[in-house]
Amino acid sequence: GASGKFFVGGNWKCNGTKDTISKLITDLNSAKLEADVDVVVAPPFVYIDQVKNSLADRFEISAQNSWTGKGGAFTGEISVEQLKDIGCKWVILGHSERRHVIGEDDQFIGKKAAYALSQDLKVMACIGEKLEEREAGKTFDVCYQQLKAFADNIPSWDGVVIAYEPVWAIGTGKVASPQQAQEVHVAVRDWLKKNVSAEVASKTRIIYGGSVNGSNCAELAKQDDIDGFLVGGASLKGPEFATIVNSVT
Ligand code: G3P
Repeated sequence: GASGKFFVGGNWKCNGTKDTISKLITDLNSAKLEADVDVVVAPPFVYIDQVKNSLADRFEISAQNSWTGKGGAFTGEISVEQLKDIGCKWVILGHSERRHVIGEDDQFIGKKAAYALSQDLKVMACIGEKLEEREAGKTFDVCYQQLKAFADNIPSWDGVVIAYEPVWAIGTGKVASPQQAQEVHVAVRDWLKKNVSAEVASKTRIIYGGSVNGSNCAELAKQDDIDGFLVGGASLKGPEFATIVNSVT
């Protein structure tokens, strides 16, 4: 990767029970992991406390969503203050499932990112095109528009990791080729350089997500502008997740 420390996130999505998560924690705690990698796991909200209390400190913990502002009368939401209170350092925002299944729009996501950062909760900012957008030649435009919504809202890119997750690659087993991912990562870095600053472009980590597994991670990790991964399905298996962490080059 080009920027900073290799970063691997495990997005557990809406999976797991106390028992399966306890087994995963045991596997993660006993895994041999390269030291020079930031490793962050994102359990479902209801298990964050269990994970925080039993997973080794070597792992940081992320939430999978957060509210747009200070907590209060917002039934069913979880505030940034509460996430920090139980030990979260990160939140995943703009994930394609929140955009396209739940219906969150760019401005709502941008507002969440701004609030999280204002309270020192770091953000994995997700972007990525759908298959029809790729086929229509709109991949870069879609990514730029999603990036712009983050840029227009957040005060600074400190504490932000960008996750490029092409929607067609998420949970499908159809991983982007190393060339396809690299091409978009370069475009994202270029966009940051032109629209934010050369410094932010060179220091912001851009990680790839979408069907990353223990077999395809090494080739992807060799690409210059891939600074790590955001892993879904394969992050539910301790040994395979460790292989992905250890693909750092
Ligand atoms: O956030 C990670 C993700 O969307 C990728 O999921 O299952 O394709 O690795 P998966």
